[in-house]
Amino acid sequence: MVELLSPDSLAAQQLDHALTLPARFYTDPRIPALDASAIFARSWQLVGHQSQLSGVGDHVVTQIAGLPLLVVRSTETSIRAFHNVCRHRAGPIASCDGRGAQNLRCRYHGWTYGLDGVLRGAPEMGRAPDFNPADIRLPEVRVQVWQGLVFVALGEAPPFESFVAGIDARLGPQRALDGYEFHHRVSYDVACNWKVYVDNYLEGYHVPCIHPGLNSLLDYRSYITETAQWYSFQYSPLESGDDLYGSGEALYYFLYPNAMLNILPGRLQTNRVLPAGVDRCRVEFDFYYAPDSRPEAQARRAKDIQFSDEVQDEDVTICEDVQRGLASGSYEAGRLNPLRENAVHHFHEMVRRAYRNSLDQA
Ligand code: FES
Ligand SMILES: [Fe+2]
Repeated sequence: MVELLSPDSLAAQQLDHALTLPARFYTDPRIPALDASAIFARSWQLVGHQSQLSGVGDHVVTQIAGLPLLVVRSTETSIRAFHNVCRHRAGPIASCDGRGAQNLRCRYHGWTYGLDGVLRGAPEMGRAPDFNPADIRLPEVRVQVWQGLVFVALGEAPPFESFVAGIDARLGPQRALDGYEFHHRVSYDVACNWKVYVDNYLEGYHVPCIHPGLNSLLDYRSYITETAQWYSFQYSPLESGDDLYGSGEALYYFLYPNAMLNILPGRLQTNRVLPAGVDRCRVEFDFYYAPDSRPEAQARRAKDIQFSDEVQDEDVTICEDVQRGLASGSYEAGRLNPLRENAVHHFHEMVRRAYRNSLDQA
């Protein structure tokens, strides 16, 4: 049997001759633990938008690589992120997003932490010898807010400036994202490995075959895909009626390893692709719009949401089919199209490097 991380499967490849990742990187039961430690615990993870954390005590709960996290606006000027695991007996502190908490109270026995993560009170522990709440604090992880988006990093992750270098300049002041407001979230459970979903996102090669509706809005011949150090982006001129996006540009950013920013005129939609087992993932779509309560703006939003859902259904169907193909035993790896799949190659190179680094550290 081929070993999971054979030297040839991890060797860097030139785009012109590149093969995909081998099928076992999408199907082997050892892959989720490897992805958690080699990729998710060592990268910047999108967790939300500052509009969800506008007031002191507003908080968002999430999980990264199996670690529950709590992101909270701890003061007017600071957002902090803590392990959402109580220091008493590992209960959850917050079980859902919330607003305006004055402190963080564990659901199990009521130990209560300040918004700075320090234990403030523990019921009926007053007579326990050598017990000093001030010595007990929730472990903290790094937070960065950029373009209104909130990211956290558990362990070693690239310097944040290099992670997003060049995006601000490409967006320009007209396209700044931090003026948008969170509108709603839609989640999709997809029966494929998270990397199948990412691969599919990273190329427009499938658009004419899989998305006839989207293809009629984009100009496939002008569709361009570029790669940077930690991200890639795709863009195309976009023409649609004034009742949808109008005309402008579609800009799709992929931020390694699992975040996507889909920027169309008047809206931002983010995607997070969250592993849920070797052949499952959950994709969260968060919709953001510039504040506008006019009926025509509401109608455009409704149309955007419906159109996005149609495109997503098309992507889910093909991703689930691909997962079956990868698991069939019929397929090992295939040749990438250097013209249209350079961002897939770029992602695969980052995965190979992450796996190589994990061997070096083993
Ligand atoms: S586990 Fe949190 S108070 Fe007991
Ligand atoms: Fe697609």
